[in-house]
Amino acid sequence: MKLGRLNHIGVATPSIAESVAFWRDVMGATKIHEPFDLPAQGVKVCFVDTPTDAGLNGTQIELVEPLPGNTSIQSFLDKNPQGGQHHMCYEVPDIHAAKVWFESQGKRVLGEPRIGAHGTLIFFVHPRDMMGVLTEIMETPKSAAH
Ligand code: CO
Repeated sequence: MKLGRLNHIGVATPSIAESVAFWRDVMGATKIHEPFDLPAQGVKVCFVDTPTDAGLNGTQIELVEPLPGNTSIQSFLDKNPQGGQHHMCYEVPDIHAAKVWFESQGKRVLGEPRIGAHGTLIFFVHPRDMMGVLTEIMETPKSAAH
């Protein structure tokens, strides 16, 4: 497998509203997208853009707040009440080939590929198999110019 672009860094938060204020007022973010619910993953999500040159898409910060009934993000917040860095997401050209690759390396892929926050297929790989980092693998959007 060839490593693709760092698409986003996932940050868990107990309050997207508070996090948005932080990214706007402290970090100086100028492009903060509208939050939206992703019920299939049990989360509310808000993307914050970081800029790049040449009109390319920059790496985003993905703010993730648990919806009621969510267990994985909620248990992260139980351990880290302020929130914190939760996962890193890298793009790949072919999500199914990437799953076969990671599994062939003995890495635990968590569930089947499913539609993620960008509308393309994603899966997560267990942090204990990934040098301690919960890793999201995302198929590069076909229409996007990267
Ligand atoms: Co993510």
